[in-house]
Amino acid sequence: MDISACPYHSQLSKEFKPFDLTDPFPVYKKAREEEPVFYSEELGYYVVSRYADIQEIFRNWQVFTSENAQTPPKPVPDAVRQIMVEGGIVGLSGLSGRIPPDHTRIRRIVTMAFTPKRLRKLEPDIRALAIEMIEKFQDKKHAELVKELVYDLPAFVIFMLLGVPKEEVTQVKAWAISRMMLTFSDTSEEEQLFHARQVVKYWDYCKEMVARRKQQLGDDFPSDLVRLQQEGYEISDREIAAMCYNQLFAGHETTTSLMGNGIRELLKYRHNWEKLCADASLIPGAIEEILRFNPSVITWRRKATEEATIGGFTFPKGADILLLMGSGNRDEAVFENGETLDIERKNAKEHLSFGSGIHYCLGAPLAKLEFKIVLEELTQRIPNLQLTPDQTFEFAYNTSFRAPVALEVEW
Ligand code: HEM
Repeated sequence: MDISACPYHSQLSKEFKPFDLTDPFPVYKKAREEEPVFYSEELGYYVVSRYADIQEIFRNWQVFTSENAQTPPKPVPDAVRQIMVEGGIVGLSGLSGRIPPDHTRIRRIVTMAFTPKRLRKLEPDIRALAIEMIEKFQDKKHAELVKELVYDLPAFVIFMLLGVPKEEVTQVKAWAISRMMLTFSDTSEEEQLFHARQVVKYWDYCKEMVARRKQQLGDDFPSDLVRLQQEGYEISDREIAAMCYNQLFAGHETTTSLMGNGIRELLKYRHNWEKLCADASLIPGAIEEILRFNPSVITWRRKATEEATIGGFTFPKGADILLLMGSGNRDEAVFENGETLDIERKNAKEHLSFGSGIHYCLGAPLAKLEFKIVLEELTQRIPNLQLTPDQTFEFAYNTSFRAPVALEVEW
């Protein structure tokens, strides 16, 4: 038997480090060229790297369900599971881990609350916040942009959207980190126990948030969902709380990462930054290209509900699948010179970074709006921004969310 042709024993399986996101792109390229589907022994997942295959799996929700998208990637120790079961968080999902008909019903109602009108309402506040944060470091001549701008900004925006009071922000952020560690990282049992307890508190907080809105409606996203429920739309309190539970998470780290990756790449390939300083109308296209070139959600998950063949590879029933959007986005079959950042690329928007099909990211317009505002303000206020030389970039240890932990800049 030619062992190199076997997805279970491939060289790639050894080279692929699912939790180490420092520089996954060379292995992704090798996978696309040599073994577009291989089995990761470390993860127990089939790994898919070509654009067409990823897109087909995303779109075929009947066969490739998203039900595993929010489950921890490795088996959960009994003691951790018990905390999660008792806390009511096993199988909890807002939308991304749900399937039709529940998914269709809830997504329709959530779309009615998450409208362009609500985004337009947020825009001046987002700009004011971005300006306030930039002005704090503008005269210093150097900054650590993750800490001083891109970590907090999307968190504050999502808190505005959800109507979380300022004094609760720090606590909620800490819970959201535990939520990420539990669902996407590879941690010791002791750490998992800690995170599971934190996540239960976070879930309790979300349930209470709905209860508070039922006492007194406000001008925010959960209140809009409660209003729709009161008008007769079929969405339960638990489903509204689950939306808040996920929204806090879905809308924070992802957007922080988009901005961290984006500013880093633009400054690294500086002619792109200079183009934006000279012509702000290029910013929306640049954001699409950054999403393509270096997506903040670099992988996502699906499970095969039956045996199915994609791109010539047959997935067994029950197969857990890891989709490498960070790889599909550089597939030469779709993107010419895919390994190069080109902010004027015509088809950048075809990237897979927000998924595809029925689960396509609901927050995409908000994430892009936030980054557009930040880039408009930064390019105008600090055009001579550059990366501080000789820094090494670290990336959080997890399967899906890739962004530098810190980003030192100077001007
Ligand atoms: C750059 C920022 C973001 C990225 C890269 C991103 C990426 C993704 C991805 C990959 C999915 C799964 C798609 C699939 O399974 O087909 C998703 C779903 C989702 N995202 Fe985002 N996201 C971002 C920002 C946001 C924001 C700001 C929000 C909310 C405020 C949000 C809310 C959601 C929701 C609710 C879903 C589930 C949709 C469904 O299952 O129907 N995301 N996102």
